[in-house]
Amino acid sequence: MRAARILAGRGVGGVPRHALQGTSRLATPSRRGLASPSLSAATQRFLDDAGCTVPIIKGPMYPGSNPELVAAVSAAGGLGVVQPISLTHLYGHDFREGLRLIKRLTDKPFGVNFTILENKKYKKQMDEWMHVAAEEGVKFFLTSLGKPDRIVAFAKPRGIKIYHDVHTPRVAEKVAASGVDGLICLNDAMGGQTGNRSAETFAEELRGIDLPLIQAGAVADGADLRRALALGYAGASVGTRFLATHEAQVTQSYKDAIVTASGDHIVWTNKLAGTNSSVIKTDQVATGGLRVNAVVAWLLRNRYTKTLTRTLMLKQAMETYKRAAFDDQVEIWQAGKGVDRIESIESCADVVEGFRKGLM
Ligand SMILES: Cc1cc2nc3c(=O)[nH]c(=O)nc-3n(C[C@H](O)[C@H](O)[C@H](O)COP(=O)(O)O)c2cc1C
Repeated sequence: MRAARILAGRGVGGVPRHALQGTSRLATPSRRGLASPSLSAATQRFLDDAGCTVPIIKGPMYPGSNPELVAAVSAAGGLGVVQPISLTHLYGHDFREGLRLIKRLTDKPFGVNFTILENKKYKKQMDEWMHVAAEEGVKFFLTSLGKPDRIVAFAKPRGIKIYHDVHTPRVAEKVAASGVDGLICLNDAMGGQTGNRSAETFAEELRGIDLPLIQAGAVADGADLRRALALGYAGASVGTRFLATHEAQVTQSYKDAIVTASGDHIVWTNKLAGTNSSVIKTDQVATGGLRVNAVVAWLLRNRYTKTLTRTLMLKQAMETYKRAAFDDQVEIWQAGKGVDRIESIESCADVVEGFRKGLM
């Protein structure tokens, strides 16, 4: 792929700041509820857990979980999910104030993501955020990595639902046994840190698990959502499609690249975060190849060095992604294969309405 092709339609740059930034509430769609008798019991369970009317989560994103985006998705009938480090480190909000801003923008429920890391300092921060989220009335946690047991113990008595990211059947079985309410099933077509199997294979492998399963990866329009439900998923976690919206606070060139790219332009690289990230292949991504060199590969494999190497790489990647969110010159854009179906930058209300129509 030539970066020039991706960049052909680039705009002037800068972060669009649309009329959502005030404190006025977002409009909610007049026609509420799907009320479709054809929805599965698992989908109904997910809708009840999430308190939304369209079985769509706007997945946590770094970059891309600014409060205006989260609120707009929830207001439209999906479930917006906050990524706390995105909210604080990237978009500069105090965590509690960021949640309060979302509540001023919509009275609809939204969720918060907690990445479970062993790092002591981060763990303390996460515990603090969990308490704040509960105090602010958040009723849906989306957890990633690690064992969710401790969060389950915190959330259950407070009536908070927990859906955990899984990428293999083995992890899915273990996590299901820990008492979570649903599983976010990461597949090999998603944007960001990717899964490693197709949506079809994963659905088949998880058939025995009696929890709502959410497809994460390559759901970008109503037809995709319909296919996901036909495979047995209860709903979908959507990232890439929501980056190319008016409400997402990333550069215009990032949004344009998502609109311009096709699935062939999406590649995996482990050079950014040490594990596979799904990104748009630009010159900046391709320079020097897509894989780490032999020394770093060894450090990532070695039992004594792998955790530290991953942590350092992840930290560096987060700085790169932060720059990519605001600086048009940084063309490191995480995105998934759903770019094939993304043809314009739209409002979240229109995107969610497209998903809703896909179910009719
Ligand atoms: C730019 C970007 C950043 C992401 N960051 C995170 C993250 O910080 N934590 C997380 O659990 N998932 C993250 N994801 C995954 C999304 O929450 C979602 O599951 C995924 O994007 C769905 O696949 P799609 O991009 O094909 O729609 C990210 C995805 C993208 C595209």
